[in-house]
Order: sequence, then C-alpha cells, then structure tokens
Amino acid sequence: MATHVKDWGSKAADGTLKDGVLVLDRLPAEVSIYEVSPRDGLQNEAAPISLEGKRELVLALIAAGLTRIELTSFVSPRWVPQLADAEELAQSLRAPSGVVLSALCPNAKGLERARAVGLSEVAVFLSSSETHNRKNTNKSIEQSLETFAEVVPAALVAGMRVRAYVSTVWGCPYEGQVDPAVSLGITRRLLELGCYQVSLGDTIGVGTPLQTRELLKTFLGEIESSKLALHFHDTRGTALANALVGLELGVCDFDASVAGVGGCPYAPGAAGNLATEDLVYMLEGMGVRSGIDLDLLIEAGRVAERVIGRRLPGKVHQAGPRILRAASVRP
Ligand code: HMG
Ligand code: MG
Repeated sequence: MATHVKDWGSKAADGTLKDGVLVLDRLPAEVSIYEVSPRDGLQNEAAPISLEGKRELVLALIAAGLTRIELTSFVSPRWVPQLADAEELAQSLRAPSGVVLSALCPNAKGLERARAVGLSEVAVFLSSSETHNRKNTNKSIEQSLETFAEVVPAALVAGMRVRAYVSTVWGCPYEGQVDPAVSLGITRRLLELGCYQVSLGDTIGVGTPLQTRELLKTFLGEIESSKLALHFHDTRGTALANALVGLELGVCDFDASVAGVGGCPYAPGAAGNLATEDLVYMLEGMGVRSGIDLDLLIEAGRVAERVIGRRLPGKVHQAGPRILRAASVRP
C-alpha cells in the first residue's frame, strides 16, 4: 500500500489550505496566455522560414483568440539569424483592436528598432545564472540590468509597455542549481525599473512541482501574483504539472508556444516550450477560461507545422481534442 509522505490535501480547522497543497479547489476563473511561438518557437529553427509563413502563423494565432503575441526579436541578426526579418514582419502586420504584438529587445538598439516599426510593447530578458546570461547576451547579469536601467525608462517615456523575462530560474544548463534569492533579486529590480510583469523561465525544462511550489512561495511572499508570469519548457514532461502548481498558488499568466515549438539557441537541451494547445486543453477541462478557441488553436498549430516543415511535439497538437470533429482529424 502506498505511504503518504506528506499530509497533502488537508485543510486547517478554519478551512484554509495547509502550506499550499494541491487540491484543485482554488483555481482562477480565467488566465491570460502570452503566445511566444513566432519568437521563442522560431528562433531555434535552423532552416530559413519565409516571411509569409511567419505572417500566416501570427494571423492563425490571432484567429484562435490569442491577444498577446510575441512576434519576433530585435536582437542581433548575427546571434539569431532566423529573426533577421523582424522589421519586415512587424511592418507586414497590423494588430487588430485588443491584440498586443510584442518583441524581444536586448538593448537600446533593439528598442529603437521596435519603436521605429510602431510596436507598443517590448520584452527585455536576462538569466539568473551568469554563464547562461553571458552565452545568451554577452553580458554579465549586472551589465544586463544596467542596460535595462536605460532601456526600460526610455521605452516607458515613448509610451510603450515593458515585460521582462528572467531565465534559468529552475536550473541552468551550465551551472546547475540556481539560487532563488538571485532570481528574486533580479525580478525585484526589473519591477522597480517599471516592467509591468516578469516572466520566470524554466528555460531548460528541469522543474518539478514541489520545486515550483517552493520557488513560487518565495516570490509570492513579496510580489503580487499579477506581476508574475510562468514560462515553462516541456523538455522533461513536467511543464503542465508546474503550471498547475502556479495556478493553485494564484498565478494567472502563462507563456506558451503553439504545438510546443521552441527553445533557446544558447541553452543546449531547451527543446519544447509548453504547448499552448496542451495548456488550453487542461484549462478548459478544469473550467478555467483563456479566451482561446481550441479547435482554431489546433489549426494554428498545423500552420506552424507546415511553415516550419517538420513534425512538432505538442501532445494535443498530435492527438487532437477529446472529441474528434471532422475538421480536426489528421488526413
Ligand atoms: P554583442 O555582440 O555583444 O553586441 O551582442 P555589441 O553591442 O557589441 O554590438 C555588436 C554588433 O551587434 C554591432 O554591429 C551592433 O550594432 C549590433 P556592428 O557594429 O558590428 O555592425 N547590435 C545589434 N543589431 C541589431 N539589433 C540589436 C543589436 N545590438 C547590437 N538589438 C546582443 C549583444 C545582446 C546584441 C546579442 O548577444 C544578442 O542579440 N543576443 C540575443 C540572443 C537571443 O536572442 N537569445 C534567445 C532569446 S532568450 C530566450 O530564449 C529565453 C526566453 O525565451 C525565456 C526562457 O526560456 O527562459 C526569453
Ligand atoms: Mg523560452
């Protein structure tokens, strides 16, 4: 017979939950999904993807109901050649009312490029481990923060909103364990600079639910849940379990990538973002609204697969929804 190691699921006498246990009875009514496939998804693809293909993908995502989409990166085209057409892509699309198109921005030059094409939002990024930050941006953590101390206020003055990513929070491919106090300190500084939200990244998909709970308890002890988002990679199959822990602890913002495409080019083994379809399927099954039409999202995943030209890993993308409708059966 199984032995319970901990008193999971029990309630205190006043009805409150003990110590953040998972009982699925305090899920939020709705969540916001920030779609990263056009950026995080495509940045890792070696074969060139046409501008028209990228445009088609973004339009399919908008049609599915996604209202926050990371379109591209205004990073060095030498570092990420796949996204060298950032200007052309941004100029070829007009965000419909209620849809925000954002882009990754590493420095003042990136901000200027994003501003020149009229984007209303950018996302700055750094890692909570020195080695990954250097490999990814050629800067120390402190140098990145100094750069953002100029970029974030400049973006705000220009009337833009700024989101931020902190990567390798759950672990670094070069350094292993990462001290949560370092990630928390970086997050605090990004919020003080004026970023409206910080997305905490499990860049290489090593996180497990108990680790997620402990990490989030540290963060939520001092930061409002609305200022945090979770960015999971499903490299080891734990992304949804980690997302569920986040939901239980009151985080309502999740990054995801259609059909599970993506990874960080400077984080070996970072394959596979949490697939948007997998997240939406789980949320729908639990009665949590995301505003996304799952059938149309599955169609967007097919567009991604066609445009990228290879089979993509998302589970719902491959298996379809619970009830197969004529249009969603694979030929
Ligand atoms: P650097 O080589 O140190 O840059 O790169 P530099 O400032 O010394 O400049 C060198 C050259 O790059 C100059 O050109 C600059 O003008 C140019 P040159 O004079 O030699 O002709 N340059 C730029 N060009 C276009 N746009 C720019 C730009 N900046 C400089 N913005 C840099 C430093 C940060 C630019 C570089 O390291 C870089 O672009 N890194 C980005 C790498 C990247 O995009 N990685 C993937 C995204 S992060 C991620 O995936 C994690 C995340 O998804 C969350 C998670 O999963 O945890 C966010
Ligand atoms: Mg990522």
